[in-house]
Amino acid sequence: MKGFGTKHSTAAGLPFAGIPPEMMGKTNALMQDEPDFNNLELEFSHRTDDQETFSLLNFLAPYKYRMLGALGLVGTTEALLLLGPYLIKVAIDDGIIPKDFSVLIWVAVIWIASLFVAGFVSGFRQRYVGRLGQLLMYELRIRVFAHLQRLSLDFFTEEKAGRLMARMTSDIEALSNLLQNGLVNLVAQTLSLLFIIGILLSFNVELTLILLIIAAPIMLAMTTWFKTVSAKGYENVRNRIADVLSDLQESLSGMRLVISFNRMKHNIINHRNRVGDYRNANNYTARASAIYSSATMFVDSATTIIILAVGYLILLDINPTLDPQGAFTLGALVAFANMVSRFFKPINALVGLYNEFQSGNAAVLKLSNLLATPPSVEEKEDPIEIEDMRGDIKLQNVTFSYGASEPVLRNVSLHIEAGKSISFVGPTGAGKSTLAKLIARFYDPNEGGILIDDHNLLDLSIKSLHSQLGVVPQEPFLFHGSIKDNIRFSNIDATDEEIMSACKAVGIEDLIDRLPQGLDTPCHERGSSLSSGERQLLALARAFLSKPRVLILDEATSNIDQQSESKIERALDSLLQGRTAIIIAHRLATAMRADIIAVIKDQGIAEIGSHKDLIDKDGYYAEMYETWIRQNKGTTLD
Ligand SMILES: Nc1ncnc2c1ncn2[C@@H]1O[C@H](COP(=O)(O)OP(=O)(O)OP(=O)(O)O)[C@@H](O)[C@H]1O
Ligand SMILES: [Mg+2]
Repeated sequence: MKGFGTKHSTAAGLPFAGIPPEMMGKTNALMQDEPDFNNLELEFSHRTDDQETFSLLNFLAPYKYRMLGALGLVGTTEALLLLGPYLIKVAIDDGIIPKDFSVLIWVAVIWIASLFVAGFVSGFRQRYVGRLGQLLMYELRIRVFAHLQRLSLDFFTEEKAGRLMARMTSDIEALSNLLQNGLVNLVAQTLSLLFIIGILLSFNVELTLILLIIAAPIMLAMTTWFKTVSAKGYENVRNRIADVLSDLQESLSGMRLVISFNRMKHNIINHRNRVGDYRNANNYTARASAIYSSATMFVDSATTIIILAVGYLILLDINPTLDPQGAFTLGALVAFANMVSRFFKPINALVGLYNEFQSGNAAVLKLSNLLATPPSVEEKEDPIEIEDMRGDIKLQNVTFSYGASEPVLRNVSLHIEAGKSISFVGPTGAGKSTLAKLIARFYDPNEGGILIDDHNLLDLSIKSLHSQLGVVPQEPFLFHGSIKDNIRFSNIDATDEEIMSACKAVGIEDLIDRLPQGLDTPCHERGSSLSSGERQLLALARAFLSKPRVLILDEATSNIDQQSESKIERALDSLLQGRTAIIIAHRLATAMRADIIAVIKDQGIAEIGSHKDLIDKDGYYAEMYETWIRQNKGTTLD
């Protein structure tokens, strides 16, 4: 068994209490199915190859024969179910009135047989249509997810995560409803309505007209009202439950603040209001359903009674002797009355399907917009695969702004020689992280160019660039899984020894020794069970393991105590041997150690040079240094 209980069981963030013995067998079987990520045959490209726009028709085209198959099955079921009322007519006219008992037996046999076949076909249909729908959803989810993996960083900050989640859940859900029931039913119900009208017309034209001209419009109006009201109502219910959940989530994750600021009462009132809104929303839809179902029942019965009464008058008029061979027979009347509710069924279904079709179509539109969004950092055709990067970095007149706002960096030029380290210092929000992100090609500059080993970043394959770049971001992110999984993230093939030596390099081997399961200890979501400093150390170990040619540390040691930091710095000194490093640090002690220091300020590089140069220059850096010295006076300075 591969590391069970470290990775999966803590998904809900609950303490892991072991797998109950009765579930062990199933668990083992599940583990057997774990994919081996090294062997999965999956091609991933940064370029979007399929230029075809996403539309319902394009998406369904490869499945057209299966869709036809589904349609055939649905049509068969509907037709078989219509046999019943017709058999009633036969039973009355050819069996009961002429007192021919054998006809009754035949009718019974055929009816029962048809119900059996209908049951069988409909079971098969449900399975077939359900599977087809699931297959389509599977393809769609993977397609959208793969596209998300391809999009650039700017997309994920601009587009709210919540909206993306909505794309992946409710939009795909709407489409799934449309595909699983909608399309097939739309055709099937239309067919069934036509069948029914045909049969009814063959029974009696006047009665059919009554149904079509008087009863159908009333039913149609009622159903349209109900579907509109309930669509609005259900949307409201969904929004209200989302409010309840987000309130719950917020107060649970902020529990520490809630307790320390005594906000419990306020929180309860707040939550009570949200839960109350949710209850009201549900009551509203329940009331609408109640009105609708009793009103339809009323219309249904009233129509049946009117049909029977008018039908009786017609019968008296044209066939008073109840001749079973007559133009209108008793059997036809009873069968007709029996068909009234069958007639309403497709009408109601079609109104519902219309709504479903509309929301499915809206979902298709939104998804096709998403799928048509190109990555803003796009790989060019036939990119250069750069191997053994030296790490010589040049920025030439780089100007960059996020979206349409004022440029963060304007006309910046900089040369970082291979193997040298540079540190960026400067005020908060000046653009230090931005500069580092440009070098890592998370964004492309608006003007100017960035060269690595004299290749423009735009010409390089993104994969080869990133595989030789180690980035430790300002807010390290830990994934679900064990500590080992998280460190190994940068290099899946690393052995336990390599992982352990990376841990040693950043000085977390003590921490790991202290943990009950060592390297296999799960770090909870976002690493909330580790301290911020420990998280940064893990992120550093992750970067160490990938042995990058260029290392970018963005405040990577800001939450680490000075003692551990100086330990890491010694380790860094050995890691940085022969590698290019970009170090962003607010702490001067860290920044000072770089070969060159650049002060990022006022949209550009205000000062650049060695520590000594900048002190001599007596500018921003010298002032920073002085403040720091003054603050640290009396305390130890190493
Ligand atoms: N994704 C983004 N979209 C829009 N604006 C952004 C984005 N990221 C950063 N900014 C803005 O760009 C400016 C530079 O940000 P950056 O993160 O580079 O600053 P920094 O120098 O790293 O600051 P700090 O020292 O606080 O880390 C800031 O004004 C910030 O608000
Ligand atoms: Mg920053």
